[in-house]
Amino acid sequence: MPETAEQPPATSKTARIKRTPKAPRQELPLLEHEKRTTTPEEVSLGFTLELAHAEALRCLDCKDPKCIDACPLHIDIKAFIARMVESDYAGAAEKIFEESPFPGICGRVCQSELYCEKDCLLGKGKLLPVAIGSLERSAADYYRQRGEAGLPPVAPPNGMRVALVGSGPASLIAAFDLVRKGYKVTILEALHELGGVLAYGIPPFRLPRDIIREELDHLRAMGVEFRTDFIVGKTCTMQELFEAGFDAVFLGTGAGLPHLMGIPGENLIGVYTANEFLTRINLMRAYQFPDSDTPVKVGAHTVVIGGGNSAMDAARWAKRLGSDTTIMFRRGRAELRARLAEVGHVEEEGVKFEFLAVPVRIFGDENGRVCEMECLRMQLGEPDESGRPSPVPMPGSEYRVPVDTIVMAIGQSPNPTVQRATPQLVTNRGKVTIDGGGKTSMERVYAGGDVVRGGSTVILAMRDGRAAAEAIDQALTAERETGLRPGRDGQPAIGAAPSNRIVAKRRLTPEISWLEVEAPEIARHWKPGQFVILRPTAESERIPLTLVDGDPERGTIVLVVQALGKTSRITASLEPGDKLADLLGPLGLPAAIHNAGHVLCVAGGVGTAELLPVAQAFRAAGNHVTVLCGARSTAHIILDEELRAAADEVLWSTDDGSGAFHGNVVELMRAWRGTHPEPLGAAHVIGPIPMMRAAAALTKEWGVPTFASLNPIMVDGTGMCGGCRVTVGGKVRFACVDGPEFDAHQVDFDELTRRTR
Ligand code: FES
Repeated sequence: MPETAEQPPATSKTARIKRTPKAPRQELPLLEHEKRTTTPEEVSLGFTLELAHAEALRCLDCKDPKCIDACPLHIDIKAFIARMVESDYAGAAEKIFEESPFPGICGRVCQSELYCEKDCLLGKGKLLPVAIGSLERSAADYYRQRGEAGLPPVAPPNGMRVALVGSGPASLIAAFDLVRKGYKVTILEALHELGGVLAYGIPPFRLPRDIIREELDHLRAMGVEFRTDFIVGKTCTMQELFEAGFDAVFLGTGAGLPHLMGIPGENLIGVYTANEFLTRINLMRAYQFPDSDTPVKVGAHTVVIGGGNSAMDAARWAKRLGSDTTIMFRRGRAELRARLAEVGHVEEEGVKFEFLAVPVRIFGDENGRVCEMECLRMQLGEPDESGRPSPVPMPGSEYRVPVDTIVMAIGQSPNPTVQRATPQLVTNRGKVTIDGGGKTSMERVYAGGDVVRGGSTVILAMRDGRAAAEAIDQALTAERETGLRPGRDGQPAIGAAPSNRIVAKRRLTPEISWLEVEAPEIARHWKPGQFVILRPTAESERIPLTLVDGDPERGTIVLVVQALGKTSRITASLEPGDKLADLLGPLGLPAAIHNAGHVLCVAGGVGTAELLPVAQAFRAAGNHVTVLCGARSTAHIILDEELRAAADEVLWSTDDGSGAFHGNVVELMRAWRGTHPEPLGAAHVIGPIPMMRAAAALTKEWGVPTFASLNPIMVDGTGMCGGCRVTVGGKVRFACVDGPEFDAHQVDFDELTRRTR
């Protein structure tokens, strides 16, 4: 909190200080306008001590305050404001810490106008309610600068352990409540950064990253452990969490699966989901463009579709990236769901609104880039299930708008990874079903937040996390007291992150490296066809690499990487002893291995390495396996010996004719088929898109069922951004969770080519 020369004097706690409820409500000072639309700096600057004191004095000090019950975390608002009135800002922070160690986060992002401020008695008449959210933030800012308040005490260890899956708001508050009661708590996060939606979804101009980090440090100081790059349902199963020694599991995996509208043109270049747009910018620092390894490109005109906080955040980013930006919403201003303060900021920053309109079709130019949008006017009708007036299309009102970038901010569903890997978990339209206390259909598994609600708010997710922590404590305490569940000493088997160390390296060609990497959990769980997402350095983009091998005994996996772009060049240049900054997996679905009789495996370039485990698996399933591979020249042939050990027959083509067959691998396929007319049960193709497209066209002619392992651009690799979407059989699929292997005869290769470009 910025200080002023005229700080209000500290007063005796017993002195009666006159309250001034009729004084005007203080508003947070804002960053100067010029910087607001050009930088990621925080826009709301926070109260000075003087302003905070003046606002605190507006509190009526009600005998029966309604604001406390209205706060989903039941923070003692009356008491913390009373301390501010007495200029005891550290005491105010300490009072908030009794219920929440995250006042800096909640004070910035909670929609207080829907909760505590809505029930503030001052606001029930003609006056505006006390700015409770801003005061909470002021106490947090004071604590950050002075550190004079103490966090609540932690009970001695009770010998019980709880795993919290996902590091978003629901898990964070559950961790706080459980660790205070003596539980050993481990938070498992799939991404490389902690905070869930706070980190990937909310921009730093609304919630600076150091606030998230510092308030997560409160949990660390209380003993909570964190593990990033760990995806439950992939890196381990739910059952394995219990086998590793956890007594209960809380699912706070959020709503990461972005919605699309299902209108023509949605997969054109320049159409983003809000998740992809915000993740690229917030998490992967695309705002540092042109230096960012994960850029996001906006054109001259951006239209953001939606009316929630994500729409406001995306629009404000687009504006900061230099685009003339409009938010298009199918209802009216009164129906916007975003925080009031953000709506105000959006307008102040020059973003326009187009209410009562909806896109129905998107048009692209000859390069597949979005260039125009057809929209329809709406009018408000009867209330729908959300309680808001429903948007009703006006026939014949179609109009077109030129646009270069579109961001779809129309909501999300729960990320399906844990649910798909845990069929015992009862769900309803993707949302995990719970009872009143947060318990799921599985013993000792609880859930809360967006994985239960679908997309909701940070503070409601925290309320759920708190309720589930209470239920977990009650259930485990009862078991402990009846002797059913004795406490244990020592660490659970899951906790410490693996080293991600390179233990061996081979140069297969000057550009292609074979790396053996220490990754015991991935080595234990991988299957042919799956991939990992890695970052060689903490500044790098996240890139997918197909798993080539994995040895559970040695606890290592094998990756083969071709130095093509910046990140793959850094990865290919790593040497034994070096460590990857991040490694997440195994991701995606395994290849569909079955006994088809005779299987044709086709690969080009570095795809040859990715084909190896698939060929091995088909052979192990009893198939006769023929492998056809293409390389530029004999000098570029890789893993020939391994392939020959894995298949019944291996043939190479080389572009320059230096090998046995002069031509590309599709020409080799045709030539091979000329002498092998016997029935083929299946084909599997991996490699550059033009090669997969041509190979698939050929096997379609032959009537051979064919799978292609697709390689679209990925950001998170967990189904969260929608950047990897491909059209298969007319349906949009996410390659990272629905693939990467798809029916090659159904893939829209034209679109894949455009999007990969
Ligand atoms: Fe983000 Fe697949 S959904 S990479």
